[in-house]
Amino acid sequence: MLFPVTYRVNAAGHMEVGGCDLVELARRHGTPLYVYDEATVRRRASEYVAAMGSNGHVLYSAKAFASPQFLRVIAEEGLGLDVVSAGELDLAMRSGFPRERIHFLGNNKSVEDLRAAHAAGATIVIDGDHEFDLLREVVPDGERAPVMLRISPGVKPDTHDHISTGQLDSKFGFSIESGAARAAVEKALAHPRLELIGLHSHIGSQIFALGAYEQAMEIMLDLLAGLKRDLEYEPRKLGAGGGLGIAYTQNDDPPTPREFVDTVRRAMVAGCQARDLKVPELVVEPGRSIAGPAGVALYTVGSIKDIPGIRRYVAVDGGMGDNIRPKLYGARYEALLASGPERAHDGKVTIAGKYCESTDILITDIEMPAMSAGDVIAVPAAGAYCLAMASNYNGMPRPEVLMLRDGEARVMRRRETLEDLVAAEVF
Ligand SMILES: Cc1ncc(COP(=O)(O)O)c(C=O)c1O
Repeated sequence: MLFPVTYRVNAAGHMEVGGCDLVELARRHGTPLYVYDEATVRRRASEYVAAMGSNGHVLYSAKAFASPQFLRVIAEEGLGLDVVSAGELDLAMRSGFPRERIHFLGNNKSVEDLRAAHAAGATIVIDGDHEFDLLREVVPDGERAPVMLRISPGVKPDTHDHISTGQLDSKFGFSIESGAARAAVEKALAHPRLELIGLHSHIGSQIFALGAYEQAMEIMLDLLAGLKRDLEYEPRKLGAGGGLGIAYTQNDDPPTPREFVDTVRRAMVAGCQARDLKVPELVVEPGRSIAGPAGVALYTVGSIKDIPGIRRYVAVDGGMGDNIRPKLYGARYEALLASGPERAHDGKVTIAGKYCESTDILITDIEMPAMSAGDVIAVPAAGAYCLAMASNYNGMPRPEVLMLRDGEARVMRRRETLEDLVAAEVF
């Protein structure tokens, strides 16, 4: 699934998403412009919820992309939310997200983070010994805060090293291999102000080979078997994390959310039976696989530079400030001419951004139709970890964001202005 579910080429030969002509939207709203297809967000979210059934919880991982109208759609589909900072939590609460469905994760949480999480009634996922001490300050005497522990199962999935988190050498989680996980469970159970409701893991992101989840589940259940045997403790919830990969190019063929959930659940149920464990409530927390396929980035072509025999650079009006992923982990994208996605190719070009860095290249060597200044280029699968990591580098305002449905485009976030850029400066 490279395109949003409502994608089609309309009578004008233009790309259309959510019943809206993308060339028209670019003209009306300007570029760079990010558009989200509401139908795709709902389709992906509801596929997770349906696959999980009644004995499980789906948390949307806000770090992939969060904006009030987007979070409302997520809440309407019945999902919970995973946040990793007081800022994400604040946005969720201002958006009216049901607070009892929020989990607060992240390593090195500050006392302010923990205070905000506790005040909101969120489930805190402890990641590091320091948090046990901070929670003594945060949780009032006589109360017990519901917590989970982030466990590192020591599994390395088939993804880029920079988005792999479950291995021993990681800043995240209490390692099973080193004994830290077992010690953390004992500490949580003995803590006077905590109620340990579950264990959590997350092995990485953009994962295609589901075997890594089965492996991680086996290791987690071995830990659970030891906890039952030695401490008579069985967690109510077991988190398998997020990380399901998505298609960024025509060649990518990732598993579906249902295949992901079915694989994890099968491994959990069979593994619990084999070890005589109560089957816990499964928690999954997808981000990319919900927001990613729903988003399309639109840019306008500006200057075109030919270096004969070497390369043709086509420069667009965005780049690393709105999508750092190509630079951060060598991510590969497709691009299409929004006014003629099916037009014949005219040769390879390299799509460059407008930031003052020679590494600001969105796509190297991609076959495209003939293009000239003013043409609109669409980059699909741009819904996750693009705007979420956007910056104002080089003094560039961040793009406008639209939600599209049934031919209507609602502004979710307006384009930043030069005033916004200096709002925090003290003159
Ligand atoms: C703890 C945790 N859960 C969930 C996610 C979401 O991952 P993804 O967007 O790949 O589904 C992440 C992202 O890295 C994460 O760190």
